[in-house]
Amino acid sequence: MTDNVILVGFMGAGKSSVGRILAARLGRCFVETDEMITAKEGRPIPEIFAEQGEARFRALEDEAVRLLALKRGDVIATGGGLPCRGGRLEALRAIGTVVWLSGDFATLYERALRGGDRPMLHGRTREQAEALYEARKSFYSRADLAVDTTTLNPDQVAAEVQKALRGWARPPQHWPPHPTLSPSGGEGTLS
Ligand code: S3P
Repeated sequence: MTDNVILVGFMGAGKSSVGRILAARLGRCFVETDEMITAKEGRPIPEIFAEQGEARFRALEDEAVRLLALKRGDVIATGGGLPCRGGRLEALRAIGTVVWLSGDFATLYERALRGGDRPMLHGRTREQAEALYEARKSFYSRADLAVDTTTLNPDQVAAEVQKALRGWARPPQHWPPHPTLSPSGGEGTLS
């Protein structure tokens, strides 16, 4: 298998920790879209949101998705909102096998609150965060594979992803990929 493995899912799904473990086990490089953006901008994501707003962050994600087309054989963790706008999930599927790390809302929300500063949870009630989660599920569910993380730790999730990948025959892709990105059709501003 030479294509990328791309992890998508809501905040708290464990994309970064699982991605790191998976990359080590598969002997591959690990890439994070949030890290690509942070490195390029020279500042943390909460600062980008606070000073330039969500729209700017989403534009930076577009650029990151374009750069991902250059990756080969990497494990890639995406930000929770990245696949949730027009054409992005399909653009990811064009460059690798997309795996949705799913889970029930209560579990993901609790994990997300515990770990790190998440601007998308600022000023949102639990109910609003759950509405965001529900709206995003229709995007995530277009992934090639899904692993339910609700009762599993990152090690166990990584093992389940490996198992799922072994049973997965990726359909042939045209080369070069032509991801179609459109500015509309996303979840919009939900604050
Ligand atoms: C976001 C999730 C974050 C990060 C940014 C926006 C989102 O990544 O990309 O704060 O829209 O859900 P994690 O999913 O790793 O928290």
